[in-house]
Amino acid sequence: MSDISPEAPWPPRSAADFPRLSGLPAYVFAQVNAEKAERIAAGEDVIDLGMGNPDLGTPGHIVDEMVAHAADPRHHRYSASRGIHGLREAMAEHYAERYGVTLDPETQVVVTIGAKEGIAHLMLALLENGDTVIVPSPAYPIHYYSVVFAGGHVHSIPLVGDEDGYVVGDALLSAVEAACASTWPRPKALVLSFPNNPTTLSATPELLERAVELCRRERLLLIHDFAYADFSFGDSEPPSLLQVPGAMDVGVEFFSMSKSYCMAGWRVGFCVGNTAMVQALTKIKSYLDYGIFQPIQIAAAHALRSPQECVGETREVYRRRAEALVGALHAAGWAVPEPRATMFVWAPIPGEYVHMGSMEFARHLLREAGVVVSPGVGFGREGEGHVRFALIEPEDRLREAGQRIAKALMRKAA
Ligand SMILES: Cc1ncc(COP(=O)(O)O)c(C=O)c1O
Repeated sequence: MSDISPEAPWPPRSAADFPRLSGLPAYVFAQVNAEKAERIAAGEDVIDLGMGNPDLGTPGHIVDEMVAHAADPRHHRYSASRGIHGLREAMAEHYAERYGVTLDPETQVVVTIGAKEGIAHLMLALLENGDTVIVPSPAYPIHYYSVVFAGGHVHSIPLVGDEDGYVVGDALLSAVEAACASTWPRPKALVLSFPNNPTTLSATPELLERAVELCRRERLLLIHDFAYADFSFGDSEPPSLLQVPGAMDVGVEFFSMSKSYCMAGWRVGFCVGNTAMVQALTKIKSYLDYGIFQPIQIAAAHALRSPQECVGETREVYRRRAEALVGALHAAGWAVPEPRATMFVWAPIPGEYVHMGSMEFARHLLREAGVVVSPGVGFGREGEGHVRFALIEPEDRLREAGQRIAKALMRKAA
């Protein structure tokens, strides 16, 4: 079967001439990125808070472990696409210790090349052309794109938060129910992610319990992206989906080493939970990749099995940075809510700028303040009206960003 339909131009003129790619929503970050690159090339001091790309280096004991194995030629061969046993076992131990959840490292854990790759290939494994997946909006973009790549349709539902930084469960779950009632063929899966990027909203254990119950009732597969498992600033830890009794019957959870251990460039994540779903991902990956460089896998296992102080320290850095940025934006007269989780500030656009839309407002901040933020619309339609700051610069730079923004907003007001 050809990938190019008879109507597609020949020869192809751009990537968009391939139907699977033309179905993708526009990559709105590209515009801000292009303008950012121009300004940096022109020598401007740009404070880049656009991408959630951790700036803190990987803790030394993890790097040392990788280095200790890097020169050994036995590790230079292809590794195992599902991950080495020691790493899958380390992940199972982590879930047992942290969440009291028992996982079989042989059948209920697969190592992925980051959560992003795992989510994309899981959708490819699970979906058929035309399947519907329910995705709350705004969302981390791969939650949508993975469905589109796999030939599915996204049914978007709004993600609404309360004043305490929690998702409003009733609204979310009734929207899922309504989607199931109004869509035929019935939706196949639901994607959730708490703590949430970009909104910073958290879920209570009760919400996850109700979601599992609903998925069971509506025969939905549940995919929980738990990339910010370690980044709640409140007293209670973010709940794992798998702590919910029966969750393993309906769903899987993605855990990422990128944020918790500042290992974003190393590309290590996991999919854990429902055996059939984990095995489906394992199988498709066995056709597509040969696994991550083995010394990286050994170092990731070491990270999971070592004392976890470094994780708490990283969380504390993000908490202080959030405080610094929010304080500076408040001083600028911009009433942004303080995040209770993640490494972001999700900021409603100030009233007099709302008409610009998030894309134009992000460009305005770049031009007038030299600060890069992500336009909310890049996270889905419901993200419009907001911009997202990633807390990936030290506190003094974040304060400076706030001061520059203050000046830019005052210039407009004057
Ligand atoms: C919600 C969410 N999931 C997954 C990822 C990517 O994780 P990884 O680096 O493991 O692919 C991110 C990165 O920003 C994210 O925000």
